Parts: sequence; structure tokens; C-alpha cells
Amino acid sequence: MSSNQSIFRTKSLEAMIGQTQGKGLKKVLGAFELTMLGIGAIIGTGIFVLTGVAAADYAGPGLMLSFIFCGITCAFVALCYAELAAMIPVAGSAYTFGYVGLGELWAWIIGWDLILEYVVAVAAVAVGWSGYIVMLLSSAGIHIPDALTNAPGQKGGIVNLPSILILFVITLLLIKGVSESAKLNNVLVIVKLAVVILFIVVGAGHVQPANWNPFLPYGVGGIFKGAAIIFFAYLGFDAVTTAAEEVKNPQRDLPIGILASLGVCTVLYIVVSGILTGMVPYQNFHNNAAPVAYALQQVGINWGSALVSVGAVTGISSVLLVMAFGATRVLFSLSRDGLLPKVFAEIDPKFGTPVKSTVLVGAVTMILSGFVQIGRLAEMTNIGTLAAFCVVCVSVVVLRKKRPDVKRPFLCPAVPAVPIIGLIFCLYLIYELPNFTKMVFVIWLLVGFVIYFGYGRKHSAMNFEDESKAKA
Ligand code: ALA
Repeated sequence: MSSNQSIFRTKSLEAMIGQTQGKGLKKVLGAFELTMLGIGAIIGTGIFVLTGVAAADYAGPGLMLSFIFCGITCAFVALCYAELAAMIPVAGSAYTFGYVGLGELWAWIIGWDLILEYVVAVAAVAVGWSGYIVMLLSSAGIHIPDALTNAPGQKGGIVNLPSILILFVITLLLIKGVSESAKLNNVLVIVKLAVVILFIVVGAGHVQPANWNPFLPYGVGGIFKGAAIIFFAYLGFDAVTTAAEEVKNPQRDLPIGILASLGVCTVLYIVVSGILTGMVPYQNFHNNAAPVAYALQQVGINWGSALVSVGAVTGISSVLLVMAFGATRVLFSLSRDGLLPKVFAEIDPKFGTPVKSTVLVGAVTMILSGFVQIGRLAEMTNIGTLAAFCVVCVSVVVLRKKRPDVKRPFLCPAVPAVPIIGLIFCLYLIYELPNFTKMVFVIWLLVGFVIYFGYGRKHSAMNFEDESKAKA
């Protein structure tokens, strides 16, 4: 088999960048919007919901250390992302980097992974949003029956209607265009940051150091089990790179967007988890869907608790917006390269956005969020992301060897040490995830192989490039 028919054929960097020139997505985003996009995707269900479960069931007050461990892991990965995103500013994130660095099969695997990450995360986050809005409505005296707020299998549930409705709205916004969505995102992010800072300022005065004792009730291992769960809270900084083609000055703005959004969130998370576990004994968070609001309530600050709930609803909305945006752009890239049917790469002439891939993502996430329980959805998200992060780390090292000539506006420091440490940390977090999650992930990958060998390989845009080269 000649190398250009190999499943490990790589795309040329120049061709990748060339295909985005002159046509395609509108370039409207700057460093500030990207940082806001990153924070918009990062702070959400993880900090507002999962912190409680992770503290009560896994890490105890040592949750701070879980956040630090995940923050360090993500920092290593983010440095790799920044190098690749500045060098290859093409929509599709890790998928695109894999195509250039490791070859088509790896690129497909990673693209398939990213679809899992984004689509399932969107569904999981929408269910979390639904929980908060239902709680807020009921405190205002408006009660929606369980049948319409829970998935089948949960307390009287038939369908989770609020989550479907919010995803319908998000889909419409994304169809309308990224510029409008980015403006809305900025407002949502400012509200969310204000609420988190309010919690820190108000909560700090109510910390009782006795609550931090014992600090590691589940032992050192609990730190890492907790980390594998709250890793979800960090997801999203990678979504910045999915917008690469819509950025005005990607070489400068992408690294800023990735690193600034991750830095801001890491600091806030460590402080919030410290204050949270200092305000209330960690055991109290068991089965608690709104730990941040609950902690304020416990120390008698009911107004703060209500504000935090409103902020959580707002904050989770912006996560939905960015994650759903990421899902449509990954789908767009896979289709443009022929690995999935071309219709999903069509850009609507009126809106300048990939309307068909947006509608597909909207439909699938609505079905998942309406009928599947949040626990199942959330578990799957982390593994898809961690696998994609591993490929990003490897791609940096491979591309430094294979393409030392390409201009790198941002250099990841200490290569190969930084990518290798990032890779090891990500593999370790995968190891800490439940076996069931790993099994479902393997099934997902097998389905991906079937699609690749049954469809993608035959329709890959690279076949046609090869043919035209042969004719010339
Ligand atoms: N990091 C995002 C959240 O916590 C996915 O909601």
C-alpha cells in the first residue's frame, strides 16, 4: 500500500490552513472574546454541582488538592494546546492536530472522541441546568410535575422537558451566528464570575478550620478519585481552539485565550473548594445537587444562596453555549474532510454558520438530555476528553520532530518533558475512572472504527487530493 492510501496518512499543514482561506467561517473573535469563551465553557456544573459529591464521597476537604492536581494536569495540556492552536489555527481542535501530526486514523479516533466529549457534556450540563431552574421555580412557588423534569428511571420521570427547551434555545442562538452568541456569552460570563467572587467574599468569613479536620478522610487515594470526577469542572478551555477559524489574529489570541481562561478558573476553583469545605462538614454534601447555595444557606445567608442559584443557572447556560458550539465545529471539520457525510460541512449562505451540523448536534443532545440520567452522561464526558488530551500531548512531540520548519508563534516550554508529564497525568486520571465508563468508551471507539472503515476511509477528502496529484 502506498503511503498516501495508508490509514496513517497525514494532512499537510499548508493544505489544512489553505482550505480555510477566503471561504468558510466569519472571523470575528479576539483574545478577550476567546478568554470569555473559555471561562464560559469552564465554570459550570463542575464547580456548582460536582464539588459536593466529590468532597462528600471521595476527597473530603482534600478536594482542594484534587483541584490543584487537575489544574496542573490541564496546565501541561493547555501549553501543548496553545502551541498547536497557534500553529494550526483551523476549526476542529485536537482532531485537526492529530491529522497533521499522527495521521488519519488517529485523527478520526480523536474527532470521534471529541464528539463524545462535547455532545455528551452538553446533554449532561443541560440536565444540571434543568435541576437548578426547577429548584428556582419551586422556590418561587411554581411546581413542575416530576414526570416532566426527570428522565425515565428517575422518580416518576417521563421526559426532562426543561433541558430540551434550553437546548432548543441554544441551538437557535448558534444557528443565528457566533458573533451574537459571543456577545451573549460575555454577559453570562460576567454574571457567573460575579457570583463566584461573591461566594468567596461572603463565604470566607464563615470558614471554620475545624471542618478541614480530618483533611483526607478517604486517604491520599481519595484525592485522585476526586480528581477524576471534578476534572469535569476544567473541561472547556480546549473549546477555545474549536473556534480557531473565527479568530481575527489566531497566532496571538489563541494562546492567550487558552491560558488566561484556564488560569482564572484554576485559582477560583481552589479557593471555592477550600471555602466550601471549610464552611460545612464535607459529609453534609452527600447527595446534594446545589452544594454552593446549600453552604451559604447553612451559615444563614439566604439572600446569597438565592443569588448563587441564579448565577448557577446563568453560568451553566454559558457552558451549554460554548460546548454546543464546540460540538458543531468538530462535526463540521470531520465532514469537511469527508470522514462524515459532507452535508454537515455546508455553511448556510444567510447565517454564515454550519446550520445542518448545528441542527444535528441540537437534536441529539435534546434526545440524550431528555431521556438519559445525568450520572451516565457525566461519567462518559471525562474519558473522551482525557483521551483527546493524550493525543494533543503526543502530537506536540511528533510535530516538533516531523515538522521543525513550521513557524510556531507560541512554544510549549520544556518539550518533551511538559507533554510527557501531561500525557502521564491524563492516563492516570483515565485509570481512576470507573470500569463501566472505560467499557462504554471502548464500545464507542469500536463503533468509530466501523464508521471509519465503512465510510470515512472511502470518502476522505484525501483520496481526492491523491487522485488529483496522480492526474497532474
Ligand atoms: N467545565 C464545565 C462544567 O463544569 C463542563 O460545567
